[in-house]
Amino acid sequence: MREEYQASTYPLHVALIMDGNGRWASQKRRPRFHGHQAGAETLRRIVTVCPSLDIRYLTVFAFSTENWRREPEEVSGLMSLMHLYSNSMIKELKENSVEVVFIGDLTSLDRSLREKLDTLEQETAGGKILTLTVAINYGGRAELTQAVKDIAVGIREGKFSIDEINESLLQRHLMTADLPDPDLIIRTAGDVRISNFLLWQSAYTEFEFVDTLWPDFTPQDFKSILARYPARSRRFGANSRV
Ligand code: IPE
Ligand code: IPE
Ligand code: MG
Repeated sequence: MREEYQASTYPLHVALIMDGNGRWASQKRRPRFHGHQAGAETLRRIVTVCPSLDIRYLTVFAFSTENWRREPEEVSGLMSLMHLYSNSMIKELKENSVEVVFIGDLTSLDRSLREKLDTLEQETAGGKILTLTVAINYGGRAELTQAVKDIAVGIREGKFSIDEINESLLQRHLMTADLPDPDLIIRTAGDVRISNFLLWQSAYTEFEFVDTLWPDFTPQDFKSILARYPARSRRFGANSRV
C-alpha cells in the first residue's frame, strides 16, 4: 500500500488539531453547532483515507480541558455529537479494523457518554490497521500533572525510587504511553499554536499549519501535506546526514 513514499521518511503517527469549526459556521451565518457537525464529517473522511496512506496512528484533538470555558449550549452540542458518532461509526470502524482509544479525563463526562465511549473502545479493541486516538477533555498540562501524581504514589507505595525517575518512566505514565510520539501535527484554521495538545510528545514533532478551516479540509489536502513530509530533515539534535 505504501506506494508513493519511502517507508523510512513517511509519518507513522499523525496528530490533528481540528480547528475552525466555529469560524466556518459564522461565515455561513449558521450556529456554531453546524460547524461542529460538518467538522465531524471531515474527521470521518480523513479516518477513512488513513489506511490507504499507510498511517498507523492518527490522534485527534476533539475537546480540550479549556473548552469547558465555552457557552454551555456549545459544550452540550459537542458532547451530543460525540454520542452520536460513537454510535454511528462503530460498524464502519470495526469493518475497517480501526481501533479507537480515548485519552483525557473522561470522568467529567456524563455517564451515558462515558458508557458509549467505553463500548466503542471495547468493540474496536485489537483493530490492526489504524489506532485512532481521540483526545476528549485532554490537556498536556493536566496529563503531565497526573503523571507526576501517579509517580509520587508509586514511590510512596515502594514501586520505584526517586533515582528511577527518568524520561522513560515519565513517558510510561502519560495517557499516550502505548503510542509513539507524533511525527507530524497538523493544525487547521490559521492559528500557529499548540493549545495544550501533546506537550511532552511533540518535543521533536514536525508541524504543519494550514489556513483551511477544519470542515473544509479534504482528504486531498491531507495527502498533499503528507506528500511534502519526506522533504523534511529531522535531526533530533544531531548533525544533518549528507
Ligand atoms: C474546533 O473548532 C473544535 C473545538 C475546539 C471543539 P472551534 O470551535 O475552535 O472553531 P473556531 O476556532 O472557533 O473557529
Ligand atoms: C484547540 O482549539 C482544541 C481543539 C481543537 C479541540 P481551540 O479553538 O480550543 O484553541 P484556541 O482557544 O484557539 O487556542
Ligand atoms: Mg478554535
